[in-house]
Amino acid sequence: WFDQAHFIPPDAIFALTAQYVADTFLQKVNLGQGTYRDENGNPWVLPSVRKSREILSQKLYHEYLPIVGLASFRQEAAKLALGPELFAKQQDKLATCQSLSGTGALHLAGLLLRAGRTSRPKIYIPEPTWSNHHQVFASLGFQCETFQYYNPETKDLDIDSYYAALKAAEPNSVVIIHACAHNPTGCDPSKEQWRELAGIFKERQLFPLFDAAYLGFNSGNVDNDAFAIRLFIEETKLEAGVCLSFAKNMGLYGERVGCFLLATSTEDTAVKTQSMLEMLQRSEVSNPPAYGAKIASTILGDDTLRQAWHDDLTTMSDRIRSMRRALYDRLVSSGKRSDNNPGRTTLTRSAGAPGSWEHLIRQSGMFGFLGLSPDIVLKLREQYHIYMAGNSRISIAGLNEQNVAYVGDSITECLKQ
Ligand code: LMR
Repeated sequence: WFDQAHFIPPDAIFALTAQYVADTFLQKVNLGQGTYRDENGNPWVLPSVRKSREILSQKLYHEYLPIVGLASFRQEAAKLALGPELFAKQQDKLATCQSLSGTGALHLAGLLLRAGRTSRPKIYIPEPTWSNHHQVFASLGFQCETFQYYNPETKDLDIDSYYAALKAAEPNSVVIIHACAHNPTGCDPSKEQWRELAGIFKERQLFPLFDAAYLGFNSGNVDNDAFAIRLFIEETKLEAGVCLSFAKNMGLYGERVGCFLLATSTEDTAVKTQSMLEMLQRSEVSNPPAYGAKIASTILGDDTLRQAWHDDLTTMSDRIRSMRRALYDRLVSSGKRSDNNPGRTTLTRSAGAPGSWEHLIRQSGMFGFLGLSPDIVLKLREQYHIYMAGNSRISIAGLNEQNVAYVGDSITECLKQ
């Protein structure tokens, strides 16, 4: 049966984590996979999640959820993404389905978007993007087209290319949008640019598919981070899909908590697409996992716990912002090592990593997109035991007071060699 099987290389970001784990060097630094770490480099269980778990433990059953998932979770997830006012206006025109985190939501969206079509639908994907986007949609038979999102010269969003790509896109195609905290670049459109983009989507009749993996985690404020989603649904009145993940913003990485929302324009379409989602989910996973969704809905459905979660979002996003600043400061003024201990440095103010590092400060969210060449990335991994994605994306959460000087100085040294 499998004589003709091909070997598929391992997923780069998971392989990097495995390499980091196997590294025995004491001062190794993991800036690879996007997972939050506290100020000591440890995984962090959010206090709001701890509290929710305590409440749940008193009444935890292990029954099946309905096929489309936990009703209270689906409702709270939709309310969170849309905000209470838009949710109240839109709720009868919404189809929602709990999913296996953001990836599962994207996959469900793909299944729904291709259902009943005879030709392969086209999907436009920003370049660069999260490493899994192409794989998810290509595996579903979509024709994946890319458009330039980022300008490596200016190290900034290439908004003109974005506008031009949308204007040239085939009507009735799907476009993937990072709702906020674009992965990997950390560059998002301004409010004005979002408005302009929404207008082009409407004009070209494009289907916006939001990948919303960082709501609240980006700025610490869900309303800010959901700006584009709400704008598109409220103002363009186009159908739109939103793929929510609670991996980052609740630290529920392994529980696979997500939700797919489809905003339609009529109640009838919502009923029909809801039934399609139910059938698609049943044939894929039968029904989704319960525990993480119960944790999330307990938090979102209780005023006190929701406030505690907002505090947790502030804790995480503030720490990331301050580490972004600390790395920047170190890069623009980093010193040379004074001895053989790579963790200890003597700062020489005149020194600094070659080039400008303003882009690091302009970017937002979990990642820093450094703009280093692949050979520098490799050197940092092999000689300095600092792990980052091949495109020089760093997960800023991997930085802390103990390692940021080492990372800044190592980058400086590598660039000066
Ligand atoms: C990342 O981008 O590093 C994370 O979203 C983890 C993943 O699944 O790729």
